[in-house]
Amino acid sequence: MTLTLRTARMYRDAGPTGVSAAEMAGLAAPLAAIHQTVADDLRHGLEGRFGCLSLPDTMTASLPAIQAMADTIRGRCRDVVVIGIGGSSLGTKAVWHALKGDLPPQPRIHFVENTDPYDLHRLCAQLNARDTALICVSKSGGTLETVVQYLALRDWLVQHLGAEAARSRQWIITDPDGGWLRSLAQRENLPTLPIPASVGGRYSVLSAVGLLPLAVIGVDVEALLAGARAQARHCRTADAASNPALEMAALSYLLDTAHGKRIAIMMPYVNRLRLFVDWYCQLWAESLGKLRENAEPAGTLPVRAMGAVDQHSQLQMYLESRTDKMFTFIELVHWDHDLAIPLGPEETEAYPHLAHKTVADVIDAEFRATREVITQAGHPNMTIEIPAVDAAVLGALIDLYERTTVYTGLLYGINPLDQPSVEKGKAIAVSVLGTNRRLADLSDVEA
Ligand code: PA5
Repeated sequence: MTLTLRTARMYRDAGPTGVSAAEMAGLAAPLAAIHQTVADDLRHGLEGRFGCLSLPDTMTASLPAIQAMADTIRGRCRDVVVIGIGGSSLGTKAVWHALKGDLPPQPRIHFVENTDPYDLHRLCAQLNARDTALICVSKSGGTLETVVQYLALRDWLVQHLGAEAARSRQWIITDPDGGWLRSLAQRENLPTLPIPASVGGRYSVLSAVGLLPLAVIGVDVEALLAGARAQARHCRTADAASNPALEMAALSYLLDTAHGKRIAIMMPYVNRLRLFVDWYCQLWAESLGKLRENAEPAGTLPVRAMGAVDQHSQLQMYLESRTDKMFTFIELVHWDHDLAIPLGPEETEAYPHLAHKTVADVIDAEFRATREVITQAGHPNMTIEIPAVDAAVLGALIDLYERTTVYTGLLYGINPLDQPSVEKGKAIAVSVLGTNRRLADLSDVEA
């Protein structure tokens, strides 16, 4: 198994606030039903409701077309700008950030997400239009932030190169049928790749959304999918004891609903997973933050922490403030590029415990110490051990968390695939722009 889950510290044996064997046993029937629902649905592949979980299998047939498009883009540019927000960018960013140290120096990738005129201006100033490709990603094909910045960048290309050459530097990833971007691509004859109807933004990194830009910059996307497939094979049984995603869903659900653990902190002890945590936070929050049928709120608040940096920032609060938290640590068990700590006689005298140690020994000691104090403070916690930071491991982590999120949503009885309240905000932003009203005018409260 690529990932090893250490969940013992989530259970009551490890501390008074953990989950008991009786609680897990009590959830066996709902877990089996949920597992069956998802397994039955997955027989329909991309046509099913949970089509996103079929991507590791179903996308292999599309890889040759994606690779061919990636080769074309690579042949035309030195810089590729991915325009998209939320689920249309966070997964791609997470994989790029984790692997960038091992990627070829070109093409360089730039992410345009937040609507920030200063950043957009600076990006244009640093790029050469002739060597730049735009990949615009939007499932709905109409998200304000994405459309606005796409229009600005398209215009920048046109100004520098003329309409014809500008068209040869644009690629669109969007809904196969509807949306503004789809009609634009048809009108302008721009090359496109589809986002299957059953695949929503935050579950889309293993579709063309992530695969095309990642293939352009040289990520082994086949290994990414293979890692996800390998992980999915560990989730075939309905028994939480041998299905890691089902076990994580059950633990998370029980710790929230029966033990008041409302905050889920993810703390990797490896810098390269920093943006993976951002992806996880969006996936978890937008999927699970909903009202249940009984009007009780569902979902735990996902929080990002980095080991060892946040030992010097958040740890004090974790140890002495409310015990409303659960933790997931991610530990890299083998570091390819370790460094010995060189000590002269004076340093050896000052730091005798560092003799014959490496930098990896230090981060390992930091991790173990933090996990120990977190456990002693009564916080349930688990560790995901990863053997390396590579495409296969990232694929496995993505599949594990997407599956866990879907299972957890179904346990709460909510729909983990929609985001109705986010849509409301998007609609209000459009009406604010359309009527030239200030936000303060929308309510009685003066901003
Ligand atoms: O996960 C989601 O569904 C959202 O975060 C979307 O990805 C985000 O709102 C962007 O939407 P779109 O891809 O339609 O531009």
